Amino acid sequence: MAPRKIIIDTDPGQDDAFAILFALGSPDELDVVGITTVGGNVPLALTSKNALKVVELAGRPDVPVHAGCPAPMVRKLITAEYVHGETGLDGADLPEPVTPLQSEHAVNYMVRTIMDAPEGELTVCTLGPMTNLAMAMTMEPRIVSRLREVVLMGGGFFQGGNATPAAEFNIFVDPHAAHKVFDSGVPVTMAGIDCTYTALMTPEWLDRLRATGSRAAIEAANLADFYRQYGTHKFETPARPIHDACVTGYLLAPQIYEQRQCAVTIDIVSPETIGMTVVDWWHVTGRRKNCNVLRRIDPAPFFKLMLERISALP
Ligand code: BDR
Ligand code: CA
Repeated sequence: MAPRKIIIDTDPGQDDAFAILFALGSPDELDVVGITTVGGNVPLALTSKNALKVVELAGRPDVPVHAGCPAPMVRKLITAEYVHGETGLDGADLPEPVTPLQSEHAVNYMVRTIMDAPEGELTVCTLGPMTNLAMAMTMEPRIVSRLREVVLMGGGFFQGGNATPAAEFNIFVDPHAAHKVFDSGVPVTMAGIDCTYTALMTPEWLDRLRATGSRAAIEAANLADFYRQYGTHKFETPARPIHDACVTGYLLAPQIYEQRQCAVTIDIVSPETIGMTVVDWWHVTGRRKNCNVLRRIDPAPFFKLMLERISALP
């Protein structure tokens, strides 16, 4: 079978870097046609530079990187240096990228690429605030019916939120964009924190990753060592989630995820719960089931596959 074509929309971020490396290490299954960046974990100038650093680390400077929206559709940008460090990729010493950014804006790139592709071919994976995709849908509504699927890291329900008691970071930063996408009619698969908290990355796994000896594996482990410092009060073990990589894992091995089709709405009005992904898990509303909600991962095959794929990179 031909590899599945994906656009990765991202705000790197150490866990975004894992998701990208995992995808680029899986060329038989995934064809990363382009990467688009958004302001999120850190401002856009840094997420864009970081995306270039990651494609170069993977030995894939041929993957075009397009910078997108610097801020959410309605609200002001909120960043997360407290998790990812000042650069967004603290922990690894990656050289300044030599590859330039593409001149075309990410939103124009998305619209053009999706409209030019055969219907149902392209999947957009969002690993940060969903601003670029929502803007693309606003600019050219016909992209909705041309997409195969949107697979996102964001949201959560049973675990509450990680940015507020109710909201996960990516959805909280741009709830209006998430609302636009979830409400659009496009098939959506959501890897929220209910799912990502079930695949915790251990120090032992990072030792094994580093021991494979490839530069990509060693730098990924360095990134993770920094990233693991956050969350001590929450996880009570040295293991940590590697959120965005769960999107790549789903594309490669959906059978290792527990999932359920549900109606999901995004709160954009309530001061206390704005950005909450309200999941109708028990189908009590009778609303259209617009989202495939990922609830759990089988961690052993997930980490086995990720180690194999990242260590296959140079
Ligand atoms: C999400 O927020 C960001 O900090 C991570 O990169 C991930 O996309 C987790 O809530
Ligand atoms: Ca991210």
